[in-house]
Amino acid sequence: KTYTKVDQDTCIACGSCGACAPDIFDYDDEGFAYVTLDHNTGTAAVPEELQDDLEDALDGCPTDSIKVADAPFNEEEEKAG
Ligand code: F3S
Repeated sequence: KTYTKVDQDTCIACGSCGACAPDIFDYDDEGFAYVTLDHNTGTAAVPEELQDDLEDALDGCPTDSIKVADAPFNEEEEKAG
């Protein structure tokens, strides 16, 4: 399984990820991306049928702000960061 989240500290609101993967990414009021599957917590597995979209979004992000892992992201880490 694959988990993903956006690092909003480095996202520049370029808008590419939502175009590549509209079922995974959306933008907040300021245009910064977040993962809609799990409110950007990185705890919901990306559905199999969206994997290709995720790859496209990864390749297209100019700031490498889209993080992926094969296990859920640790929420404690997020608070610390
Ligand atoms: Fe931000 Fe990268 Fe998406 S800069 S808007 S996470 S493509």
